[in-house]
Amino acid sequence: MAPSDGNPAADRIDELQATLDHHAKQYYELDAPEISDAEWDRLYHELVALEQANPELVTPDSITQRVGGSVNEAFAPVTHTVPMMSLHNAFDIDDLRSWNERAQRRLEGQAVPRFGVELKFDGLAISLRYENGVLVQGATRGDGKVGEDVTHNVRTIADIPETLPGGAPPLLEVRGEVYLRLSAFERLNQRQRELAAETGKEPKLYVNPRNTAAGSLRQVDAAVTSERELSFFCYQLGLVEGGPEPDSHTETLAWLGSLGFPINEHTQSFATIDDVEQRIAEFQAMRHDLDYEFDGVVVKVDHLRLQAELGADAKAPRWAIAYKLPPEEQTTTLLDIEVSIGPSGRATPFAILDPVFVGGVTVGTATLHNQDQVAAKDVRPGDTVIVRRAGDVIPEVVGPVLSDRDPSSQPWVFPSDCPVCGERLVRDEAAAATHCVNFHCDRQVRGRIEHFVGRYALDIEYLGEKNIDRFVSLGLLADVADLYTLDFDKVLELDRIGAKSVENLKASIENSKSRPLGNLLFGLRIPEIGQVNGQTLAAAFGSMDAIMAASIEDIAAVDGFGQVIAEAVHAWFETDQARDLIGRLQAAGLTMEAAQVDRSKEQTLEGQAVVVSGTLEHFTRDGAKEAILERGGKSPGSVSKKTLALVVGTDPGASKVTKAEETGVPILDEAGFLTLLETGELPA
Ligand code: IVH
Repeated sequence: MAPSDGNPAADRIDELQATLDHHAKQYYELDAPEISDAEWDRLYHELVALEQANPELVTPDSITQRVGGSVNEAFAPVTHTVPMMSLHNAFDIDDLRSWNERAQRRLEGQAVPRFGVELKFDGLAISLRYENGVLVQGATRGDGKVGEDVTHNVRTIADIPETLPGGAPPLLEVRGEVYLRLSAFERLNQRQRELAAETGKEPKLYVNPRNTAAGSLRQVDAAVTSERELSFFCYQLGLVEGGPEPDSHTETLAWLGSLGFPINEHTQSFATIDDVEQRIAEFQAMRHDLDYEFDGVVVKVDHLRLQAELGADAKAPRWAIAYKLPPEEQTTTLLDIEVSIGPSGRATPFAILDPVFVGGVTVGTATLHNQDQVAAKDVRPGDTVIVRRAGDVIPEVVGPVLSDRDPSSQPWVFPSDCPVCGERLVRDEAAAATHCVNFHCDRQVRGRIEHFVGRYALDIEYLGEKNIDRFVSLGLLADVADLYTLDFDKVLELDRIGAKSVENLKASIENSKSRPLGNLLFGLRIPEIGQVNGQTLAAAFGSMDAIMAASIEDIAAVDGFGQVIAEAVHAWFETDQARDLIGRLQAAGLTMEAAQVDRSKEQTLEGQAVVVSGTLEHFTRDGAKEAILERGGKSPGSVSKKTLALVVGTDPGASKVTKAEETGVPILDEAGFLTLLETGELPA
């Protein structure tokens, strides 16, 4: 800390150092940033300017004098043989030109003859050590001198070679960035949504690719890292003993590429700063065209001899600079804060914004997550707010611009009543969530019907969200059982719905009566009962009556269930509403018995999971599932590393296929599936 002697600059420096230290910890150590990158840059800039004006107040522990990260004790420390330094930033072209001029002065007037230009990837720096061509260690940057040993996690990253081809030097340390592709990030969040849909809970979505990548690499369990599909770009040589001696950084990267390290395709070198400037403009224009995020452009003096002459200061080399692209944030007016009610009754506040173009799209609304977030950010209608959007991330309100606030404004108050049904909202302190608990709230009624008609539940087609809304608001549907006594004459009188559609809807509702019991159980939105648990419950008890008669102990004894699930399921079946509903569904003729699984066939798939996607020629969706069950197997809705095979028909789900390709799960066609069923063997 800088000593304070009543000098206002000293006090401010103190304050800035403490603030920046706090946020550095949030960002580097906890992967949980609290302020935007732009806000960080603003504070950091202010500190740099104050320190430059008051050099006597600069202390060695100032964030401007050291590398930002630090080390988490869950990992063994690794001392870097060559320190992993940070980079100085340039925020505009003038900064870039001054950097070049400083370099030229240090080189006693000699102009830098060539610059390497590459993207500044937004991930996590890593150092990889190879001995005799074999990967022996992966470490994070940490505080630059000591990092964290994450070797076990690094080994799960497909882009990182385990062994190098013959002729690799005896000792090699390379550096680069571990990052998450936007497509992989999207798949992760898609999986979170599917998981939530299966369990009837709200999805817990990852916030952004950078923090997800950092969090994924710093997992104690490598199996978790492996699920996250991390990627890697190599951008720097750390240390080499033996091997070729290239003259330039560009040649070094080409050599590392020949050893199997992924070098980013946009890496290039240029002779003049004008060319570099031109390239930066091109990068800026393609910011949203790539499958990964970058937040700047790194410019490096290409000749290694000149790099050595330029050397480094305490924090960063003088031979490189990071040109930061302007952060993707904008300010706009927060017109209002509203609360939306989700299908399970959860109340989520969201911001209505004066539409603003940010991060490649126009943003008119942004989530505020929950009551606590609104309170913490203290955003108020009428405020000028900072809006941020990065890559595929949901737009977010970072916070208010306090200097613009109307002094008469008041904090926003979370509504006490549900905006849909008007009943009281209930706050669940433990979950920091607020819910509408009115079972008859229109939104929840609609939510339950939407879920019930879904593909993996009762699979009722020709009944989209819009028509569900209409039917509910017209009083034609109050719960899922009403589908089976739907007044089709009244439906026919509605506009925008023709006779043909009504016929189709009728047929689809009729068909739904023969859907398996497991699907019905899933469709009822019973707490804890997702697709797989629905199947398990049906198979374990054999009938709806038996499930309703079961005690908590009976249910807890089901393989994979336990006390928590058992209590939730039992409590649901105990309610009058549930009993009444099931009675009416029973009267309507829905399947209430589990299909007797024919166990006479040879159990070729004992305990194995086979996922089916797309339309098959000789099996219906349920038929394929049944065939797998008959052979002793399971048929979950998503692919994981444990899946034996993915069977694809026409139009399979893209996310399943990609996941199978990436995890190395074999993909079979229908003929392959038949062989698998018969023999339990994967066709060659
Ligand atoms: S070179 C000694 N090249 O930026 C210089 N760094 O702020 C070593 N980064 O920790 C860094 N892309 O995580 C370099 N093409 C690139 C980069 C890059 C991203 C990150 C890296 C480093 C941070 C420094």
